[in-house]
Amino acid sequence: MNKTQRVPMKALVLSGGKGSRLRPITHTSAKQLIPIANKPILFYGLEAIARAGIREVGIIVGDTAAEIRAAVGDGSAFGFKATYIPQEAPLGLAHAVKISKEFMGESPFLMFLGDNLLKGELSPLVEDFLQTKPNSQILVAQVPNPSSFGVVELKDGKVSRLVEKPKEPKSDLALVGVYLFDKNIFTAIDHIQPSARGELEITDAIQWLVDQKFTVVCKRTQGWWKDTGKLADLLEANRLIHETLEPSIHKDAHVDAGSRLEGRVTLEAGAIIESSIIRGPAVIGARSRIIHSYVGPYSSIYYDTLIENSEIEHSIVLEHAKIRDIKRIQDSLIGQRVELLRSGAKPQAYRIMVGDSSRIEIP
Ligand code: TTP
Repeated sequence: MNKTQRVPMKALVLSGGKGSRLRPITHTSAKQLIPIANKPILFYGLEAIARAGIREVGIIVGDTAAEIRAAVGDGSAFGFKATYIPQEAPLGLAHAVKISKEFMGESPFLMFLGDNLLKGELSPLVEDFLQTKPNSQILVAQVPNPSSFGVVELKDGKVSRLVEKPKEPKSDLALVGVYLFDKNIFTAIDHIQPSARGELEITDAIQWLVDQKFTVVCKRTQGWWKDTGKLADLLEANRLIHETLEPSIHKDAHVDAGSRLEGRVTLEAGAIIESSIIRGPAVIGARSRIIHSYVGPYSSIYYDTLIENSEIEHSIVLEHAKIRDIKRIQDSLIGQRVELLRSGAKPQAYRIMVGDSSRIEIP
């Protein structure tokens, strides 16, 4: 349970969406629940929200509602009360805000994108907002590829323009997935129309606030920030999180005499390491078996997996996956119950059954 003092603010966490950039994983599961260092992405944000003293959290859910509900429950494990707000379709970030109006009432709120990861605490942002009481506070980070993001233009240090994924960006400041609003955002959303991609854009709503001379302040992120919506960014977030982890070996994990753990390695309950090298930072999940294999840096191996006679690094392996006789896997995300095996069957050929929108690179 979180002991931080309660603040007079609610939170809205967006956990719906299409997840089209992470197919096929998102055909069957919520991208917000993909584990990074064996903890769902969403949980990092929820824990930070609880540490900031927020005790009422609205969670926007879409097609994967059941899975998100099963993982987060009533919120008590995090120290807040969770209320689920179903969104009929992913009609935009501002649409998600619009449907939360009743839940928010008169309360100011922090909006958090459930697939974003942020180093650093939310509490200084919350405290600033509650003290200075602007109508909105946005967070930005400098990025090398602004055209993939909502971009913020500043004039004399003040927000002048916000553009969603501009083709020719005039600034390299991307909107980070953390926003603070007072109730005026609902009026703003009532004044905007869906964009060319058919979504109610939060950038348009904030632009309305700017145009109507409401106070919109802009802060820069202190630590790193990652939108994990596509594979390369997800793997980078995995690497960044691994850098911050303290290693721990569960008393019920077993490492045989023929194995070596190097660097920062975490073994969860019942993990079995036989005739293998685990070079950290790496996390091996509960009951997973690593046999005659090499697991290299930045590997997140989830629970009940088998890695046998194989080499893997800088990858995320989900639960119940089996990898046997494969050298070598890198920069990969391997889904639940996937089997990657070498077969001696003739004729020698790749025999593959993969889901829609999968990607396989073969050397
Ligand atoms: P995005 O990653 O911008 O959108 P998406 O999930 O539809 O993914 P893609 O672009 O790959 O198709 O969404 C950011 C977060 O907000 C993410 O956690 C999903 C969530 N979201 C909603 O809950 N409702 C929505 O209408 C949208 C657009 C996103």
